Amino acid sequence: MARYLVTGGAGFIGSNFVHYLIDHTDHHVTVLDKLTYAGNLASLSGLPETRLTFVRGDVADAELVDDLVATADAVVHYAAESHNDNSLNFPEPFVHTNVIGTFTLLEAVRKHDVRLHHVSTDEVYGDLELDDPARFTESSPYHPSSPYSSTKAGSDMLVRAWVRSYGVTATISNCSNNYGPFQHVEKFIPRQITNILWGIRPKLYGDGRNVRDWIHADDHSSAVLQILEAGRAGETYLIGADGEKDNKTVVELILTMMGQDTEAYDNVADRSGHDLRYAIDSTKLRTELGWRPRYADFEEGLSATIDWYRDHEDWWAPAKRATEAFYAQLGQ
Ligand code: NAD
Ligand code: TYD
Repeated sequence: MARYLVTGGAGFIGSNFVHYLIDHTDHHVTVLDKLTYAGNLASLSGLPETRLTFVRGDVADAELVDDLVATADAVVHYAAESHNDNSLNFPEPFVHTNVIGTFTLLEAVRKHDVRLHHVSTDEVYGDLELDDPARFTESSPYHPSSPYSSTKAGSDMLVRAWVRSYGVTATISNCSNNYGPFQHVEKFIPRQITNILWGIRPKLYGDGRNVRDWIHADDHSSAVLQILEAGRAGETYLIGADGEKDNKTVVELILTMMGQDTEAYDNVADRSGHDLRYAIDSTKLRTELGWRPRYADFEEGLSATIDWYRDHEDWWAPAKRATEAFYAQLGQ
């Protein structure tokens, strides 16, 4: 049994990982989470108290982080400001949490010689052309477009430097767009599902040609656990499940699965600097660590996700009104 410290464990992907870790290992988990608007303790409810400790706090609080890291065997770092649309309007918390927070954690794992896995995004690589056959690999150059992706790129660079200069034992993963339960209704897929459930038309930015490479959050969790158990220190692994789809196709699929007309959506103002396409080549993870996604079929995962939102209105309804009020101000 090992003691895992999971930062951001009350957020979307972090909480899915905590569930995954408790279901698939005998490790003890301590979650450090600030419970910003994006954190929700209800995402961790029902987990056994003997396996889980929750600490509310800031990953940039050096004293608190030092105390928690001192008693951990491994740290998995999910805490971040994660939404591009917010980053365009309020970039400061992105610099604080994504850059200063990661720096704070790195100093603590360096001091206590604790293994770190840093969770990052494919958005650090910028975007690809729609007709480009290329996909991102571990050697793609960094080219971030937004305050969100540039602060995540900065955090990756800090981890790499702490590995090389101080010998910190760390791995990095850059994953594509996740979907699944417990995702905040500000994000694309849950926004459209919950819109339909409340009788609001789905909102497509621009012409909807932008492509994202979708992966179920459970598959992201299984990949991170595999990297923690078998990944080589200092290495970066890209995580993706060959799930490229343009946004218009995804909206039409959701409408069809929810019994609506496929044209019953609105085209709204495009996002500033909107990345065109992301695509992951996860050959390294698959060949080196033998990882395979369970949800190879996007439609199966999407249908399960629609069912989850239909059954958990109590989880998402409190955030829905404020989220839509914010988007209305942006004309989105
Ligand atoms: P999220 O916004 O749903 O959750 C972030 C969590 O971090 C929340 O619980 C929030 O309360 C917490 N947090 C924020 N600031 C904090 C601080 N200063 N101290 C402590 N906790 C803080 O995000 P997510 O979508 O679950 O993303 C988690 C991680 O995965 C991020 O690092 C993100 O960059 C990365 N990632 C996300 C995706 C995706 O599709 N969502 C894809 C690849 C990588
Ligand atoms: P999002 O979930 O914000 O993730 P990311 O910006 O990290 O890719 O958006 C996914 C895609 O969906 C992106 O191309 C923007 C688009 N989008 C819409 O078309 N409508 C929406 O309401 C939202 C939130 C996003």
